[in-house]
This record gives sequence, structure tokens and C-alpha cells, in this order.
Amino acid sequence: MKYIIKGGNRLSGKVRVSGAKNSALKIMAASIMSKGRTLLKNVPIIDDVLTMAEVLELLGARINLDRTGNCIEINPDNIKSFEAPYELVRKMRASILVAGPLLSRFGEVKVAIPGGCNIGSRQIDMHLKGFEQMGADSITEHGYVYIKAKNPDSKGQKKRLKGSAINLDFPSRGATENILMAASLASGTTIIHNAAKEPETSDLARYLIKCGADISGVDSDCLVINGVDELKGCEYEIMPDSIEAGTFIVAAALCGKKVEVQDAIWDNMGIFCNKLADAGVNITNIDNESVIVRKTRALFKNVHISTLPFPGFPTDLQPIISVFLSLVPGVSVITENVFENRFMYVDELNRMGTNIKIDGHHAVITGVPKLSGAPVSATDLRAGAALVLAGLVAEGITEISDIHHIMRGYENFDKKLRELGADIIKTD
Ligand code: UD1
Repeated sequence: MKYIIKGGNRLSGKVRVSGAKNSALKIMAASIMSKGRTLLKNVPIIDDVLTMAEVLELLGARINLDRTGNCIEINPDNIKSFEAPYELVRKMRASILVAGPLLSRFGEVKVAIPGGCNIGSRQIDMHLKGFEQMGADSITEHGYVYIKAKNPDSKGQKKRLKGSAINLDFPSRGATENILMAASLASGTTIIHNAAKEPETSDLARYLIKCGADISGVDSDCLVINGVDELKGCEYEIMPDSIEAGTFIVAAALCGKKVEVQDAIWDNMGIFCNKLADAGVNITNIDNESVIVRKTRALFKNVHISTLPFPGFPTDLQPIISVFLSLVPGVSVITENVFENRFMYVDELNRMGTNIKIDGHHAVITGVPKLSGAPVSATDLRAGAALVLAGLVAEGITEISDIHHIMRGYENFDKKLRELGADIIKTD
């Protein structure tokens, strides 16, 4: 599949962002720890959500997906398997997030080791260290890690994890979330120091609390979890996707007249919106519910960016903002601190006329007056979205291949852009 974009159209109107991918995936995984059904609303119907549904079905959960209503119902009562196979973990790294829930439910789990991906090596050492500190043993062989709780629970029946104080070397989202889920059903208290405090991690914590978990410190870098004996499924509405919001905001900054991005929560985007304002984008926060971007006559100014865990500049918006900075006069420097290899898309962008040079984990971007359409290929999800933005503003036709990467994370991306006035079509 490809996107074909004819650049140059001005965007205007309103666009509503979908539910957050990185919240929906974790909450779907967490639902398997509860007794009874969970009903999730505002779920984005994207490929990664379908893959997570496949993982849960394979484990034995009953899934009911309402594509038009953006709801998913999960009944985990019949889950018997505690193995997440390589075919699915390979397809979507977030499948590793079933490890914590399965470990707490069965006292053991076998999960394929995810391996690297197009943005760098992605270790799970902090996940495993956390589980080990909670009294689990892990063995790695044949590409799988097998983790087993050692302590019998108070009734001497199944093996149960034991609360512990855990200090993360880095506020990894995945490790924080896996440990948070596992700790919710462990015996005793777990404290996660240097925890990720991303809004999606807090969304997961709020879902768990609604299911009966005892968690305090939500939104902070220290989570305290008193393990409970049982969680019960509930109804929960997934928060809006801040990376999708940021993508439309940059599209509007690049080629918008007046665009209102609805369900764009300014505070959830870290310092992203402030950086755009520093660069001269006319951007307004409406009650932390939507963001309006208006065309400005002033020249944009270069800015420097360092990606960091929340509330720093989100690494997922790094490829997106690089397209904007490519068209800003002067030299802007982006420093990528979260992933070691997140500049793979630069060669493709440079084929469209950007002037970006990579030096280690820095991208040195010299502004150019215009971009020109070209055949390019998406190397990963956000890189693919960045190419779409470049195509919207470039002269002529841009043909983007490998858009399956983009479809992992953006719901109706081309349709939403068309509704704003873009000339973009999807072909087979
Ligand atoms: C999540 C997001 C992803 C985002 C990233 C950083 C999901 C599904 N994905 O990925 O979109 O780009 O956060 O905001 O939510 N690390 C280790 N050892 C570990 C765990 C992580 O070395 O045990 C390293 C990773 O290799 C990476 C960095 O820590 O360099 C950040 O990883 P992490 O925060 O865990 O990202 P993910 O949860 O995988």
C-alpha cells in the first residue's frame, strides 16, 4: 500500500484526534488481570490495537470489537495460556506488556524477546530486573524468556510476586508499566522510583485503580502500589493520543490557514507546543481540550530540541518536528536522548530536499526554502508520518511506500487529512 500526495494544498477546519495508541495497548494488556469483562471506549482502530487483540485472543480471551463505535470488550476469564509467541511480539514490541499481567495472574510467563527495531535496540533488562526484585526467577533460552514467581502466596496455592522497592536506571515506560501491572496483584507494597510519568502511564494506572488496584503517586516519578488479591473488569475511556495531536499541529503549522485540533491536550505533549510557539507558530491552547493553529505572516525562527522522558520533548514527535524545522531559516539542532537510532528517516527526507546532517545522536538541520515531492519509503511509524507531512508541503507528487508502518498507529490518517483539504490518497 502507498500514499500518493499532491503537495501545496492549504489545510483548514477541524480534526479530532483518536484515542491514544500507547494507552489502549497497555490497558488491553492489563485487562487480562481482572475478573470479568472490561469495556474500553475511544479505542483507536489501528493495526497495533488489532495485533494486541490477536495476542489476547491467542491467550484465550474473548474479544468483541466494535469498529464503528471505537469500543472493545475483553473477557479474560477463560485465559489458560501464559505464552506470548515470537510471531506476535516481533510484529509489535508492545506485546511484551502482557508479561506483567500474565506473571501476576499465573505466577509464570513465557514471552518472546522482542529484539531491535528500526529506531534502535530495545532492551527489556529493566523489566526483568524489576520482576526479579519482586521474587521471580527468569531464564532466557531459544529466544524466549521464561519468568516464574518463587514465593507461594499466603494460601500456599499459586506462586505470587512479592512487593519490593525498585529503582529504575532510566524512566522506561515499558518497564514502569509492566512492573506497575505485576505489582497490582503482588503481595505487599511495591515502590517504583524513577518511574515514567508519561500521561499514558497514568492512564493505565487510573484504569487499574478503577479495577480495584491500590496505587498512589500517579503522575509522579514515584509510584506506590499496595498489592490486592483481585481486580475486577470495568468500563474505561482511553485518553486522546498526544502524538497524533502533535502530528496534526505540525501539519497545520506547515500548511494550515486555521486548523483546530480537537482533543489535543496541551499539557500532555510535554514542551512540544511551547517549542512551536518559541519558533513563531501561532498556536493557542483552548482549555487544555483543543489547540488552534493559525497562519502567521512572521518568519519562523530556528529552535533547538532535546528529546527526554515526559515532560520533556517527546521522542515520538522528533521526526515530525524535523520536517517543520527543515523549512525554518537558520540552523536547528535536535538531540535524540531516548533511542540511539531514531534518525533512519533522514535519508528519505533529504531525498525530498531537506538539509539534515546526522552527527551521533544530533541532527543538524539547515532550513531550506522548499521541498520537492519524491518517491520515498516509511522506515517506521513516526518516520512515515513525517514523510506524509513533508509530502503535504512539497512541490509536486510524493509517493510513500511501506505505509503499513503508519497504519500501525494512525486511525484514518489520510481521511482526516483529506477532510482538512489535503490531496492524499491511499492505493493498493
Ligand atoms: C514507549 C512507546 C514509544 C516511545 C517510547 C519512549 C509504547 C507502546 N511505546 O516505548 O512509542 O517512543 O516509549 O517514549 O508505549 N530501555 C532499556 N531497558 C529496558 C527498557 C528500556 O535499555 O528494560 C531503553 C530502550 O532501549 C530505549 C529507552 O530505554 O532506548 C526508552 O524505552 P521505553 O521508555 O521503555 O520505551 P517503550 O516503552 O519501549
